[in-house]
Amino acid sequence: MKTERWVVREHVEGVPDAARIYEKVETELNTRLGEEQMLLKTLYVSVDPYLQGICLDTPIGDHMGADSIMQVLDAGPNAPFRPGDLVQGFGGWRTHLVSDGKPKLWQTGTFPMVFPAYRKLDLRHYDDALPLSTALGVMGGPGMTAWGTMTKFMQVRPGDTVVVSGASGMIGTLVGQMAKRAGARVVGTAGSAGKARYLSQLGFDAVIDYKLADDADKMREALREAAPDGVDKYFDSIGGSVTDAVFSMLNVGSQVAVCWQWATQVQRDYHGPRLLPYIMFPRATIRGIFSLEWFTEQNWSALHEELGGLVRRQELVAHETVQDGFEHIPAAYQTLFSASESNRGKVLVRV
Ligand SMILES: NC(=O)c1ccc[n+]([C@@H]2O[C@H](COP(=O)([O-])OP(=O)(O)OC[C@H]3O[C@@H](n4cnc5c(N)ncnc54)[C@H](OP(=O)(O)O)[C@@H]3O)[C@@H](O)[C@H]2O)c1
Repeated sequence: MKTERWVVREHVEGVPDAARIYEKVETELNTRLGEEQMLLKTLYVSVDPYLQGICLDTPIGDHMGADSIMQVLDAGPNAPFRPGDLVQGFGGWRTHLVSDGKPKLWQTGTFPMVFPAYRKLDLRHYDDALPLSTALGVMGGPGMTAWGTMTKFMQVRPGDTVVVSGASGMIGTLVGQMAKRAGARVVGTAGSAGKARYLSQLGFDAVIDYKLADDADKMREALREAAPDGVDKYFDSIGGSVTDAVFSMLNVGSQVAVCWQWATQVQRDYHGPRLLPYIMFPRATIRGIFSLEWFTEQNWSALHEELGGLVRRQELVAHETVQDGFEHIPAAYQTLFSASESNRGKVLVRV
């Protein structure tokens, strides 16, 4: 059958230029299935900043990987799912694919990682309040990243000051709202006045423009004003000089969650471990976040019940920005890097 894929044509470091990197190609897909294989049709594709690193590790000419929601069209006798089932997995920027849905080792990565097995989506969990697409957002990887951090590592107490860098995306907005519910003063960073207003509407107490980080002194000054009692919990997706400023304000017993490092990953800012003196006196704990560790059936159920319950009761907001059309995937991806005013929460594409 004829299918379409977006393939990687060039490896470009730094902020991705999607129009240059990706090419759409038509492919003849062999649909004769092995006993354990399935033919799947892609319904939704997630676009995420971390795809920048995945792309650099993808061999030229291969399709671009990405989290997706797929429908099983056909299945071999020993395949894990049956025709009609809806599944979520790392299917990529492809209209159709053949897969056995098993975990896949990502061998070319800078860190050896495994893309988890496809998981069947239980339709009873999805409705108007939490549509199917949320399996890529608040009820998927981003939701698990925020919920996992806040329930399994960070112990936010009433009166704490919590700083969330890169706060305007799906994960940052969830972390900020959860910290607020726990009684904290919540400070976020965002890239525009519109996003700052958005975060204020979600309950953030103060929002700082992360572009101030170009001037370390101004960043520190703005943070001191927003967090006069220092910082108890720091959820970091940006790194660089935003993190430099926050580290110099850590309180005794503080906790730092490292979710991503925009400065290093995208902007190639490789400074040495110059911040470590700052964690000594406050006895801070720093933990790397790798949400795949929480992808268990038990945690998915708890995520649906706890975070899903908050969204259903309208006690927590989980926006999504859905774009339409397979041909628009690279453009949707590009918006993540251009501080697009129109993006709210999780950005994804309906194929
Ligand atoms: N560790 C893990 O297990 C794990 C799991 C999933 C995701 N992640 C990472 O966590 C981060 C947040 O994910 P998400 O799903 O919330 O992202 P998202 O919804 O896709 O949002 C993109 C974010 O990037 C910000 N941004 C754009 N240009 C920027 C720049 N030049 N400098 C700093 N920030 C910039 C945007 O802020 P503005 O719009 O305000 O500019 C926006 O908040 C991502 O980087 C993602 O790759 C980590």
